Amino acid sequence: MRILFIGDIVGRPGRQAVAKILPCWLDRYAPDIVLANGENAAGGSGITPAIADDLLSLGIAGFTMGNHVWDKKEAYPMFDADPRIVRPANYSPLAPGKGLTYFQVLDKQLAVINMAGRMFMEPADCPFRTFDALYKEIETPFIFVDFHAEATAEKITFATYLDGRASAVVGTHTHVQTADERILPKGTAYISDVGMCGVFHSSIGIDLDISLKRMLTGLPIRLEVAKRGSLVACAVLIDLDRTTGRALSIQRLQHRMDETESSQ
Ligand SMILES: [Fe+2]
Ligand SMILES: [Fe+2]
Repeated sequence: MRILFIGDIVGRPGRQAVAKILPCWLDRYAPDIVLANGENAAGGSGITPAIADDLLSLGIAGFTMGNHVWDKKEAYPMFDADPRIVRPANYSPLAPGKGLTYFQVLDKQLAVINMAGRMFMEPADCPFRTFDALYKEIETPFIFVDFHAEATAEKITFATYLDGRASAVVGTHTHVQTADERILPKGTAYISDVGMCGVFHSSIGIDLDISLKRMLTGLPIRLEVAKRGSLVACAVLIDLDRTTGRALSIQRLQHRMDETESSQ
């Protein structure tokens, strides 16, 4: 089973980057399923049903989210109703949505989990024990986990805890692709961060001038998605054994594209 997972899609430039590169990736790599992190898809904060539909029409089968999951209120009903989108499983069970869902891939069920880290992040339930509880109810060996976290130390430690149980644990949220992809000793594919899709010369997708002004002044200046410049699209390609669900390979993908004049 071949999974293509696209890192955080940041605003309109991120969506444009995906629209440009995804047909080439589908052609070249022929994944059995495409998933993406959608937490920044709408203006850099959250996702909307219309934007989810646009991305689904490109060939993405479903979305994981992250700490920006609640930024667009119009998406809340979708988190409850649509089985193709998950939000961190260790957020409150009283909030909209779910942290585990399933996709039919070939003749198998693929479980997809979204989990949030706790180091330098908003408070969340324990990701380790939350995974243990979910794992008890999962019957398929094909388990994909998006661990949305800030600290690489927490990411590799969490992935090691899941090694041999999850097929893949991939990091998102820091938006910079890390060069540490590997198969862990018991067969779980891992990378600390998949990277993002958006304007390359930016502050993780955010306009650098605005980000700089905010940091220099300490004022609560509203951050805006970077609108101009060359685009980058980041993803990972993961192959799983079709019987055991263990990872056979993980490959980083990063593609840069020409200047855009998009508006957010
Ligand atoms: Fe993000
Ligand atoms: Fe995030």
